[in-house]
Amino acid sequence: MKVAVTGTPGVGKTSSSELVRSIKVVHVNDIVDECNAVVGFDERRKTKEVDVRKLGKAVSKIEGDVLLEGHFSHLLGVDVAIVLRCSPKVLNERLSAKGWPEEKVRENVEAEAVDVILIEAVETTSDVCEVDTTKKSPAEVAAAIEEIIAGETEKYPVGNVDWSREVLDWF
Ligand SMILES: Nc1ncnc2c1ncn2[C@@H]1O[C@H](COP(=O)(O)OP(=O)(O)OP(=O)(O)O)[C@@H](O)[C@H]1O
Ligand SMILES: [Mg+2]
Repeated sequence: MKVAVTGTPGVGKTSSSELVRSIKVVHVNDIVDECNAVVGFDERRKTKEVDVRKLGKAVSKIEGDVLLEGHFSHLLGVDVAIVLRCSPKVLNERLSAKGWPEEKVRENVEAEAVDVILIEAVETTSDVCEVDTTKKSPAEVAAAIEEIIAGETEKYPVGNVDWSREVLDWF
């Protein structure tokens, strides 16, 4: 079984996955470098452009159960996608604290507010769960990931996270 831990940058994919013990954890960024999947650099976004098909091929060669952690891990032919979510307000604080440029922070906060990664995950993957990390520690998020891997998916159905009230408060 291949499980993706995905979500908008800053939601805590890396921090929480590092604490998961029940399955081998692979950081997608490491495979990107190993298989030379970088095809360019987006100057405006200050991010690497990655060949997702090449990455998917590399992932398909991984044998056995694996948890793939990264913000496009849900696009790599996984069986289950766990989408980590974070309140846009809190995500704004977390990304600003990282020292990211205001434009890049805003772009990601907006993507989280309108469910961009969730929608992609639902379009590409048959089993999708959502975990709200806003008030959870990385250890608690890791525990939720372990529960989902153990089959307790009903606690984290698609739709259990909804930022619409928070977003409407912006107006
Ligand atoms: N549950 C949490 N509660 C509070 N802060 C957190 C939590 N998870 C992560 N953080 C903090 O938020 C920041 C982003 O976390 P992390 O790097 O794990 O996110 P990510 O989803 O892997 O982001 P990226 O897509 O950029 O790799 C870090 O400074 C981290 O310490
Ligand atoms: Mg990360």
